[in-house]
Amino acid sequence: MKRVILMLALLAISGGSATVLADPPKNSGPEVIDFKMGVMILPFQHRKHQTNLNNECFHCHGKKGPGKIDGWGKESAHTICIPCHDLEEKGPIECKQCHKK
Ligand code: HEC
Ligand code: HEC
Ligand code: HEC
Repeated sequence: MKRVILMLALLAISGGSATVLADPPKNSGPEVIDFKMGVMILPFQHRKHQTNLNNECFHCHGKKGPGKIDGWGKESAHTICIPCHDLEEKGPIECKQCHKK
């Protein structure tokens, strides 16, 4: 009986880790994306965000998957970028931090 439980536990562990480490993507896109906002440029560390987020593209790309994001602009940027920084208590959340003047 003990053995069966141990086996099940091992299966659960290996099954779990397979979902945590997502498959390496075929096209990971650019390493850095320069967002041009007026005269200012915000260098967005695309690759670093991917690695930090366990290669979970859905945080920003949603269900559609990697590639251009539909309707990308001010609204989508703010709804995608800011809540996560807020939640993680890491990364910029204030206007001035991203829009330096
Ligand atoms: C923290 C947010 C974020 C994460 C996580 C993220 N991306 Fe992106 N990615 C973006 C943004 C923003 C763009 C630019 C969208 C646009 O211009 O429409 C982009 C663009 C891309 C592009 C298109 C580049 C182009 O100009 O054609 C590819 C390909 C891409 N990402 C792949 C990935 C893959 C694969 C993952 C997961 C391993 C991933 N991204 C994770 C934010 C992210
Ligand atoms: C799902 C979570 C998440 C999303 C979505 C996200 N970020 Fe971040 N971001 C982080 C974390 C975590 C850090 C802190 C990384 C560190 O300290 O190493 C960070 C740091 C940053 C930084 C400062 C440090 C650096 O690496 O450049 C900038 C600028 C930034 N993010 C911009 C953006 C922009 C722009 C978007 C939207 C396109 C975005 N982030 C979306 C989690 C996220
Ligand atoms: C995490 C970084 C981040 C924070 C914080 C942030 N923004 Fe943005 N903002 C962006 C990005 C990225 C874009 C869109 C860039 C693009 O169109 O590709 C953008 C676009 C804009 C635009 C569109 C005009 C332009 O210059 O292209 C305005 C206006 C704006 N933001 C104002 C604000 C204000 C006001 C705040 C504070 C309440 C704020 N932003 C906070 C990242 C940020």
